[in-house]
This record gives sequence, C-alpha cells and structure tokens, in this order.
Amino acid sequence: TNAHLDRAQALITSIPDYPEPGVNFRDISPLLADGPAFTAVTEALVAPFVGRFDFVGGLEARGFLFAGAIAVMTGAGILPIRKAGKLPKPAAAVSYSLEYGTATIEAPDVLHPGDRVLLVDDILATGGTLTAAQALVTELGAEVVGSAVVLELTDLVGRAHTGDVHTVFTA
Ligand code: PRP
Ligand code: HPA
Repeated sequence: TNAHLDRAQALITSIPDYPEPGVNFRDISPLLADGPAFTAVTEALVAPFVGRFDFVGGLEARGFLFAGAIAVMTGAGILPIRKAGKLPKPAAAVSYSLEYGTATIEAPDVLHPGDRVLLVDDILATGGTLTAAQALVTELGAEVVGSAVVLELTDLVGRAHTGDVHTVFTA
C-alpha cells in the first residue's frame, strides 16, 4: 500500500562518510527489516515489468534480495550477477568503476538467445554497476527488457549511463 511505501522511504537512512569520506551512504537495512515495507517496495519495483521477463538479474549483494523476492512473486528464474571470482564457471565478465573503487561482475552460463532479463538493484549511484550488468546480459545474447532500482541518487546522474531506469524512490 501507499502507507507501506511511505514508511519504506522513511526507513532508508543516511550515513555520512561511509565507506569513505565524502560518501553519504544510504542504508536499506531498516527497510529490509520491515516485512510489509519490503513487500510494498518489491511490488513497486517489478510492477511495470510483470509478464515481460523470463529472468530477474540481481546485482550482488543487495540486488539478490529483491531478485529472489521477485522470482518467487512472478515465476521468473534468477540470474545472479556476481562480483568477480565467486562463480566456478563464469560465462562473461565486465569491469566498471564504482562511486568508491572499481569492480568486475560475472554471470553464470544459464541464458539462451532471446531470454528476457529484468535487472534489479537497491541503489543507482553513478550507474557503473547497472551499465556493466546491461552489457553483461547483452554479451550473453539475452535481452535486457528493463532495469529497476529501489533508490536513485539523482545527483550522481547514473541514468546518463544506464538509459531508462524504473525507480521506486529518488533522493
Ligand atoms: C552498491 C549498490 C549498487 C551499486 C551502485 O553495491 O548496491 O549495486 O553499489 O553504485 P553505482 O551506481 O555507482 O555503480 P556495492 O558494489 O557496494 O556492493 P554490495 O551490494 O555487495 O555491498
Ligand atoms: N548506499 C548504498 N550503496 C551504494 C551507495 C549508497 O549510498 N552508493 C553507491 N552504492
């Protein structure tokens, strides 16, 4: 409900100077701890895409939480998009820069040409992670039908890199 969504937004807290000076870190842990708020956010995250995807691609680590919930809600399969070195047999890898640091993501060999993938994550910051995930899915021959995040940090203009992203909240 809207009341649950409003509460969810209020439950996202800001921690200054984490993980390094100058970064105002948004912490979704209190939102995750509130069952009805988490459910409302997950429903709002997937709403525009229901019936239009075969896989939900979750970005490690917090994206996994929403991807798992969406998979159960919709019957989609899960594509775990992982930090480098975690998968025994990665099918592809893409490197990118983060708001703080750099990283590489990898995906397992589970997609087939034409599979429709919805990408989900908790936060859109610089957009590096989501842009890399889009490239990863495309490289694997599947189709990115959409990208959805719980919170977009608009100051960082991530969507300049990602293209259109469905966002539940902005800050
Ligand atoms: C955070 C967040 C997004 C990404 C957003 O993940 O959960 O995945 O950064 O930043 P960007 O838009 O600038 O790329 P992080 O890499 O901290 O990983 P974690 O979820 O494993 O903590
Ligand atoms: N919070 C959580 N994850 C993040 C953030 C943030 O503010 N910025 C980049 N990834």
